[in-house]
Amino acid sequence: MVFRLVYRCTLRCQRSKKIKGLPLSKNNPIDLNFDRKHIWHPYTSMVSPIPVYPVVSAQGNRIKLESGQELIDGMASWWSTIHGYSHPNLVKAIQEQAATLSHVMFGGITHKPAVELCKKLVQITAPSLTKVFLADSGSVSVEVAIKMSLQYWLSQGVKTKTRLMTPMKGYHGDTFAAMSVCDPINSMHALYKGFLPEHRFVPAPKSNFYDEFDPRELDELEAQFSNHHQEIAAFIIEPIVQNAGGMNFYHPQYLSAVRKLCNKYDVLLILDEIATGFGRTGKLFAYEHAHIEPDILCIGKALTGGMLTLSATLTTEKVAKGISEGEAGVIMHGPTFMGNPLACQVACTSIDLLERSQWQVQVKNIHRWLERLRQCEEFSEVTSVRILGAIGVVELSTVIDVAKIQAFFVEKGVWIRPFGKLIYLMPPYISDEASIALLCSAIYDAIKSKAYQ
Ligand SMILES: Cc1ncc(COP(=O)(O)O)c(C=O)c1O
Repeated sequence: MVFRLVYRCTLRCQRSKKIKGLPLSKNNPIDLNFDRKHIWHPYTSMVSPIPVYPVVSAQGNRIKLESGQELIDGMASWWSTIHGYSHPNLVKAIQEQAATLSHVMFGGITHKPAVELCKKLVQITAPSLTKVFLADSGSVSVEVAIKMSLQYWLSQGVKTKTRLMTPMKGYHGDTFAAMSVCDPINSMHALYKGFLPEHRFVPAPKSNFYDEFDPRELDELEAQFSNHHQEIAAFIIEPIVQNAGGMNFYHPQYLSAVRKLCNKYDVLLILDEIATGFGRTGKLFAYEHAHIEPDILCIGKALTGGMLTLSATLTTEKVAKGISEGEAGVIMHGPTFMGNPLACQVACTSIDLLERSQWQVQVKNIHRWLERLRQCEEFSEVTSVRILGAIGVVELSTVIDVAKIQAFFVEKGVWIRPFGKLIYLMPPYISDEASIALLCSAIYDAIKSKAYQ
């Protein structure tokens, strides 16, 4: 009887969940109705989401909508597709790898794509970084970095170093440990206060990248180190550019001062290069602006040229040895898709492409072309225009209506997705001058016609 009731109920549930729609076929349009009703998109409501645009393909710096319209890309798909979309070398790398070994567990097994990629990463990053942990996404690499720092001090018998120190305006990802070091006030993660570990926040770096460095901003920082170092395992920061927390371009001397303070007070330095790595700021890694080396480095996004999700956490002999000497003796992390051969192979090919390209020239050119954004300074609602490497930012005095401004941009034939008060560009490095000019003039027109409110 009970069985029959459960069975009937299950049948009813299945019936009510039946999705009407066309059979799966390449020729059917993207089911926007289904998308709207059933699929969560990032940072938007499930019940009244802002519109999404159906995309069918992307090549170079063009994104093609289902309508046939092409958009010039200003976002490099959240800063990852540095070589543009569907680069033939990257496509070929994935196809060939898929035909041989698309995935195999990394526990107890190794393979050439992982070994070659890690060799390459050790070669191109700071000399002291020799140990590599492969992870699945930027946020996960931050989780691993935090675990490394905590485990390191535990292994040394230092039981008090259980917290992190980090500046305000930071952004390190959406998983719980990563969220706990994001800006505690302005990030959406403020929502989880009480569930997150409480870390120690210091003021965001103030001196601008291009201005004279004001050493007075170090007073408070040194005081925090001096007063709290006994409880601080690591200081975590995005080098030179605080990205999703506000697009703050800060002075290299701030970063070198942080390095010195970490040394002085026995605190590990974690640099999150997930957004800035692979040339975005004009240096291969942004920490090079400050001539320092981190104890732990997180990379992701452009690591695979934006083709697949992959990240890495690199550390030094000292930290790795320290962890290994501890009670656990191992780093307690091992995701299912760790070292995925497809992702590793395409990352090897992407780094190879970057090395063989004129990326320094491309980034310099983009920087020069982005100077067009300065014409936005004529509007009273623009509080700042800033450009560094292949990053251009226009900051407004009011919060932007994303749905409205995106509709405007799409009509203009460009893909730009602002957040908060910021309209910014981080285009693929292969972008040409005409494309950057169009992106800049679309931003100018959007502000002029008040399409942001
Ligand atoms: C500096 C930084 N760290 C971490 C992350 C999180 O990376 P992912 O989205 O791959 O988890 C991001 C993403 O924007 C980032 O900009």
